[in-house]
Amino acid sequence: MAKGKVDALLGIVFGDEGKGKVVDVFTPRYDIVARFAGGPNAGHTIIFDGKKFVLRSIPSGVFDEGKLNVIGNGCVIAPDLFMAEAQELEAAGYDLRSRLHISKRAHLILPTHRVLDRAYEAAKGKNRVGTTGKGIGPAYSEKASRTGLRVGDILENFREKYEALKARHLQILADLHYTDFDLSGEEEKWLAGVEYMRQFPLTDTEIELNRALAEGKNVLAEGAQGTMLDIDHGTYPFVSSSSTVCGGVCTGLGVAPTSIGEVFGIFKAYSTRVGSGPFPVELFDATGDKIREIGNEYGAVTGRNRRCGWLDMVALRYAIMVNGVTQLIMMKGDVLDSFATIRVCVAYEKDGVRTTDMPYDTEGWTAVYRDFPGWQTPLNGLTSEAEFPQAFREYIDFIERETSTPITIVSVGPDRAQTIQR
Ligand code: IMP
Repeated sequence: MAKGKVDALLGIVFGDEGKGKVVDVFTPRYDIVARFAGGPNAGHTIIFDGKKFVLRSIPSGVFDEGKLNVIGNGCVIAPDLFMAEAQELEAAGYDLRSRLHISKRAHLILPTHRVLDRAYEAAKGKNRVGTTGKGIGPAYSEKASRTGLRVGDILENFREKYEALKARHLQILADLHYTDFDLSGEEEKWLAGVEYMRQFPLTDTEIELNRALAEGKNVLAEGAQGTMLDIDHGTYPFVSSSSTVCGGVCTGLGVAPTSIGEVFGIFKAYSTRVGSGPFPVELFDATGDKIREIGNEYGAVTGRNRRCGWLDMVALRYAIMVNGVTQLIMMKGDVLDSFATIRVCVAYEKDGVRTTDMPYDTEGWTAVYRDFPGWQTPLNGLTSEAEFPQAFREYIDFIERETSTPITIVSVGPDRAQTIQR
């Protein structure tokens, strides 16, 4: 029997590309859906059976009976937030306990990691990253410094291990003179979350996944955040703390590079970023506000305004390169319907130097644009490629040519029907 493959579905810019929207196009093709990186900093909005859910740690295959979902070893998980997310799905009638396996090797986010996240951000002042405040950075730091707690730890002598780590965190907070926190209610909920998690299969997911692949089953690795937030390849230090790129699928699930099949890269027809850090295409004017308003660009986790700008080909080409993207998926083309001119950043410039390669330090670069005529007609009623207005077709052709990568799905509205496969 032919071995199964792991296809990756990745946000390839700054996250928030709208993966939730295409997931129902994708998940039916797979036996298993697995998350390989990140944690409750993600927020995938999914509309299923007419109901809206925001998934943070739980993979998008949970709506489908008979599909296995995996939270892989590369993830970090906050038991209290996991419980809240899972209970909402259970209340809506989805039987998670038979469908969701959690890696014993995934790391736990403690309540004190969240306090540390806030304390470190406060200490950074104007250089703060603008994190989601979910304790992501401190939990991954602890993993790397080999002092973290893993999901498997909850199975034995957990309270003792927890208290020891909490005491260490309280000492760090005291050293930082950070006193702006009260753990009482939060800790109680968190410990209840740990009890709740015990009711789920806590397993060696890397072994399960490799067995499934050997049996010819196919896996969808569902990304979180985006390539420009990757700990190695993003705009460091204004990044998240995990490997959000395709390489992270291998380490975050324990699958071999040879098992990777298609790499789907999702991007929007324009750019957004939440949090601080360089963003050469950012628009500070009415055009940026208009994109935000039409595109409803407000954070799913934090509700913050997303910073908006035109499409950035420097970032897109770089992301396609480091991920080995085989197919592109373009979201939210319809948001640009009313613009007379649509700009695309084709290079960066600083001190008279122009580059089309992503620079080591993206601070201080300005965008060089190429202008395209807008299509100025609504895309959201379109159902096939044949109906694309000429100017929209030219926009798509340009991106495909510049990236040497086909755009195989074009989304022109929030509805499932507004997803055109090419
Ligand atoms: P952290 O992941 O909470 O540490 O935040 C680090 C940076 O990544 C901040 O700029 C966040 O705004 C950004 N970030 C984290 N998760 C997401 C996401 O799911 N979408 C978009 N940005 C994110």
